[in-house]
Amino acid sequence: MKAIVYQQFGGTDVLQLADQARPVIGPDQVLVRVKAFSINPMDWKIRQGKMKLMSGSKFPKYTGADFSGTIEKTGPAVTGLRKGDAVFGVVKNLMKQGVSAEYIAVPASLVWHKPAEITFSQAASIPVVGTAALAALQKMGTIHPGAEILVNGATGGFGMFLIQLLKQSGARITAVTSTHGVRFARSWGAHSVIDYTLENVLDRKSAYDIVIDLSGKMGYKTARQIMKEKAIFLNPTPKPIEIPGALIKNLFTSKKHIVILSNPSTKAIEQLLDAVNQGLQIEINKTFPFESFNEAYQYAERGGYVGKVTIEFNW
Ligand SMILES: NC(=O)c1ccc[n+]([C@@H]2O[C@H](COP(=O)([O-])OP(=O)(O)OC[C@H]3O[C@@H](n4cnc5c(N)ncnc54)[C@H](OP(=O)(O)O)[C@@H]3O)[C@@H](O)[C@H]2O)c1
Repeated sequence: MKAIVYQQFGGTDVLQLADQARPVIGPDQVLVRVKAFSINPMDWKIRQGKMKLMSGSKFPKYTGADFSGTIEKTGPAVTGLRKGDAVFGVVKNLMKQGVSAEYIAVPASLVWHKPAEITFSQAASIPVVGTAALAALQKMGTIHPGAEILVNGATGGFGMFLIQLLKQSGARITAVTSTHGVRFARSWGAHSVIDYTLENVLDRKSAYDIVIDLSGKMGYKTARQIMKEKAIFLNPTPKPIEIPGALIKNLFTSKKHIVILSNPSTKAIEQLLDAVNQGLQIEINKTFPFESFNEAYQYAERGGYVGKVTIEFNW
């Protein structure tokens, strides 16, 4: 089977096409014939060697974490999934495993039936960013009506889920995005939109109850300037040192710095599928054929698009 692998850390040029044997499944695993997988910023952070502490330095490495496809084979302990079922899912260890191959072996507990109403690319875009958005909502706790929430970097995959999930909360959402994202942020439910290419969010002199930085460019220190007393800053891109550091600093300040880690689970996926059923939009900006994987990663890493970028096999 064909697979995308890399043998060293680096840019998109280290990604190679390889010919490999199909993986063998364990008793509680399924073999999935992959149709689509989505690109997440984590893919290139790992490939560039920026997450070595968690990813380790063992090669070859695969890329991609969430996928969709059809079940090819099930292990003897698997129930509820059958050969031919259309499914989507996520790898168990996002730091050490990848889905960039024609066939993958994954635990049945992290594979779910794909609703017929969404495409394979849309389904493959749900687990990582969808469950991260739910983790963010959970960390926000009880949201009081009228609470001011700033979503910085609002129209990537994470922001797309978060804004739409926040819509029912009664909060006032301010989204920060570049020009092409403005109309999407509004249509997803943001009450106010700041185009960061025209205006600096700090210049508004507004104060927020919750600030979440999905761009990875604001940081807690800057965010403090626009946080109310007792506000929280949510950080999905912490540097390793910030994880224990935030816990300690939070003991001495009323403006809390909280780290978010996504945790894909059946409960979270069911909640997301409910939201999709009720109209949550999954915007796919561009889908590349598998053979154009290098171009796909270059495009995704350049940024400047709304929603998700995916790669699909032609079958
Ligand atoms: N902790 C976890 O479990 C977890 C899970 C999922 C994702 N994440 C992380 O969360 C972050 C967001 O994920 P994502 O998938 O949504 O990434 P993404 O699709 O790359 O979105 C990031 C957004 O930030 C915007 N942006 C760039 N520069 C900006 C600036 N100066 N000011 C405001 N916005 C700016 C980008 O817009 P333009 O491209 O238009 O500039 C883009 O839409 C990533 O760093 C990802 O690694 C963490």
